[in-house]
Amino acid sequence: MKIAVSGKGGVGKTTIAGALARILARRGYRVLAVDADPSPNLAMTLGLDPSKASEIKPLAANTELIREKTGVEPGVYGAYFRLSFRVDDIVERFSVEAPDGVRLIVMGRAEQAGEGCMCPANAVLRALMRHLVVERGEAVVMDMEAGVEHLKRGTAEHVDALLVVAEPYRASLSVASHIIRLAGQLGIRRVFLVGNKVRGAGDRRALEELASREGVSLLALIPYDPEIEEAARTGVPPLESARGSPAMREMERMAAELERLLGSGGS
Ligand SMILES: Nc1ncnc2c1ncn2[C@@H]1O[C@H](COP(=O)(O)OP(=O)(O)OP(=O)(O)O)[C@@H](O)[C@H]1O
Ligand SMILES: [Mg+2]
Repeated sequence: MKIAVSGKGGVGKTTIAGALARILARRGYRVLAVDADPSPNLAMTLGLDPSKASEIKPLAANTELIREKTGVEPGVYGAYFRLSFRVDDIVERFSVEAPDGVRLIVMGRAEQAGEGCMCPANAVLRALMRHLVVERGEAVVMDMEAGVEHLKRGTAEHVDALLVVAEPYRASLSVASHIIRLAGQLGIRRVFLVGNKVRGAGDRRALEELASREGVSLLALIPYDPEIEEAARTGVPPLESARGSPAMREMERMAAELERLLGSGGS
């Protein structure tokens, strides 16, 4: 299964992507976590050792790789570059191992030239997502950049499921609606709403209403959990600090539900 996690800034995308990657790994999947946020921080959430995390060289900053694949330098616009290139070696060459055996690949910052940017580094990410062949027992979890621009760039086009994370407040719900509609236009097959930092019946209702208005299913309602917030402050992975909390249990239920809905095979 190939899953991307999107939503407005700060709603909990990285927390959820990191926890989901590790939960799936513990359920026996071979998991590749892809940090597609230009300000990457999935490594910490996955519990990667800081010294190991600091050694990661983001793909977009890897001039040699971008040149090798596309034939042009990163950050070059308007130039013709190769659109078909092999990506099957990228995971092997550039991923690092995180706890529970999760492999992590970090995209990093591709200099953006506005909407629909087709800069070479982005072409590499698109190609990677497209060509990652997911076999039985494998999972890819991609943590995306906040907002809707990344969807316009097509990086999530080839996923099996898009999780749209929303907090129960107006601006976040409105970004979630926008993402859901764009995902429909892009032909993403399965789109799920995931409510996060839920504190009561009013919050639940707001998220249920959004799901029914947009015609998507509400995959999970993750409670607000002070231990998760504290984990972010101290740099401890939430899977460790909030173990067994209602929020973690809901994420475990969500992982099991995704497994049931998407199966363990490929797309
Ligand atoms: N269920 C939760 N309960 C309490 N705090 C949470 C919960 N989920 C996430 N948080 C906290 O919310 C903050 C933002 O989370 P996170 O970094 O995962 O969001 P994000 O959507 O990835 O943000 P960005 O858009 O900056 O990438 C963090 O401090 C995190 O600990
Ligand atoms: Mg994030």
